[in-house]
Order: sequence, then structure tokens, then C-alpha cells
Amino acid sequence: MENLNFPSTKELQSLLKKEEFKKIIIICGDKSFKSSGAETFIKNLLSSFDCEFFFKKSAYPDLKELKEIINFLKKSTPDLIIAIGGGSVLDYAKIANVLTDSKNIQEEITNATYNINKKYAKLIAIPTTAGSGAEVTANAVIYIDKIKYSVEGEKLKPDFFFLFPELVVVASKTIKASAGFDAIAQAIESLISKKSNEKSVKFAERSLQISFKYFLDFLNKPNQENTSAMCLSANLAGEAISISKTTAPHAVSYPFTSIYNISHGHAVSLTLNQFLEFNYKNMSKANCNFDLGGRYNIMFKASNTKNFFNFNEFMKNLKKKANLENDFGNLNINMEKDFQNFISGVNILRLSNNPVELKKEDLKNIILSK
Ligand SMILES: [Fe+2]
Repeated sequence: MENLNFPSTKELQSLLKKEEFKKIIIICGDKSFKSSGAETFIKNLLSSFDCEFFFKKSAYPDLKELKEIINFLKKSTPDLIIAIGGGSVLDYAKIANVLTDSKNIQEEITNATYNINKKYAKLIAIPTTAGSGAEVTANAVIYIDKIKYSVEGEKLKPDFFFLFPELVVVASKTIKASAGFDAIAQAIESLISKKSNEKSVKFAERSLQISFKYFLDFLNKPNQENTSAMCLSANLAGEAISISKTTAPHAVSYPFTSIYNISHGHAVSLTLNQFLEFNYKNMSKANCNFDLGGRYNIMFKASNTKNFFNFNEFMKNLKKKANLENDFGNLNINMEKDFQNFISGVNILRLSNNPVELKKEDLKNIILSK
């Protein structure tokens, strides 16, 4: 087992002291700040600092709230931002901190013409879910008019991150299931991404070994050990996709979130099996500079399965046991009717990371065959 002794509160305290921060703003979730125990934690930690708080309200990161955060930032002029919350909170802080002086933020994000050359303040990320791995990735998601955009650049990476399992363990089973499955999907997609390399494969493999062992226990009987393990697994998956990016299941997941309000990890879980099957069956047509079969073998080994059939069943079972509803009807999704609207919200760029070329017809078959 990996070292699960993460840097402690003492280390965070000494960092705050050493850097002599004058003004701190805390970006956090409206409800989760209290329920996760983050409120007590932060208030104890920062009792001697000048602090202001921004409470995130939107279910997923959108432009309107991002602008509010940027205005808040400019008004408060902090030299440190602490983002403490789930993936959306971390993503907001990451983008606000680099696009603070943007002249026309909507245009710059939609056309990817932003110029990121500095950070407004230092940024500490403390995730309260395990998780998106957003504490280590160099990109962040934002929705504009229900379409998902990604802001990318090395400067988006938080300066420091801290993993405190005690803030993660108290989340509801629903949140744990969705966030944990996001980590699993990110590691799997990273393994087969065209941009993967030796380093990303190591991160992803280790992440999967840990999540496959601890995910269900983390949902059903959460304790210090399985929560720490899932924090680490999510963090490693974040490192992996920071190199390789994600692939098709993530690309098609975003309209599930923006149109149907399905949480991110749950949204990703809806098509993961189908895309894995498509890539496996079409392996001979793969257009990548690595042995795709070898990457599937890594998944089989980590899950203790022997072949694709077993692995596919293993993944379906995992979703079922995590109560991640897989049926469109039960989720009030009428895909036959909504398909055109749905597909216009898909990120084509991420589809190009898929190891086998995906034609529009393939995409239609995969999504409608569910
Ligand atoms: Fe994700």
C-alpha cells in the first residue's frame, strides 16, 4: 500500500505562516462547507487571518457565477485563495485566478483565445470529494449556455494541495459514488487515450489498483483507510489525465450534466462500458502509438478479471452496487427525441483522443443502443 500519511494540518499551518499571507479568500460550496466539516476546520485554521468567503451555489460551474467570483476577487484583493470543496469549487477558483483581468471572458473562453500568463494570487486546493483530481490538473471546466468549455494552461494548476480524508469521509453515499466513479473513469480513459505515455500509464494503473480495491468499501463502510485510499486514487487519476486528457465517455458526459442535471461522475458512467466495448472490438483499427490490447490487460489485471467479457461485467456490477442508475428511462432521458440537442453539446476535441476513430454514426449507435 502506498503511503497514506498525507501532509497534515500542521504543515498547512506552517505554510500559511511562512508565506505571510495578508488577505485570504475562501471559495467553498454553499451546503458542503458546513456538512463536510470544512467550516470548523477553516475557522480554526484561519482564526488569526483576514478572511472573506465566497459560497458557490450553482450545481455545476457556469459563467455567471464565475464572473461573480472574479468580481469578488478584485474587490477583496487577496494574496491567497483557498478553494475547499468538490470539483466545481476547485475549477471556479482555478479559472478565476488566471482570467481575472480578462476583457471579454465569454469570447475568450468560447474561442480559446485567452492568454494566461499570470495568477492573481496563490491558490491552495483542498478537495472535499474523491474525486476529480482537480487539485493537480492543468485545466478546468466551465459551462456557457449549457455548453462545456475547458480552460487549459499550466498556470491553472493550484500552487499547493492538501488531502484531508476527514473532510471527504462525511459526504453522502451519492456524492461518494459519483465522485469515486469519476476517478475510476478518468484512470481508465487515461490508459487508452492517444496522448497517454509511460508516465501517465503508471499513474493510471496505480490509481485503478487502489480504487478497484477500496471504492465499494468507501461507499458502504467508510473509514480512515478506504477514504485516504480513494483520495490518493483520485489524485493519481488527476495526474494521469493531466498528461493524457480524457476520451469519449468524458466528451459525451457534459450534456448529461448541463441538460439533465446528472452529476459529473454519474454522467461519465453512463457510456463508459459502451465506449470500452467499441474500442475493444475495433482494436485492429486503432490509430495510436501503443499496444491498445496491453492497456486493456492493465485494466483486467487491476480488476482481477481474465478477459473483456469479465471486465465488462465487473464494471457493470460496480456501477450497480454503487447505485449509479444506468437506465435512460429511469433518468427521464428520452434520447431518441433529444439526440440532436444532446450531440451539439459534445466536445469534439476530446473525441479525437479516442484510440479508435469515432464517426458520427458510431457515436449515434453507441448512445442510442443503451
Ligand atoms: Fe471527470
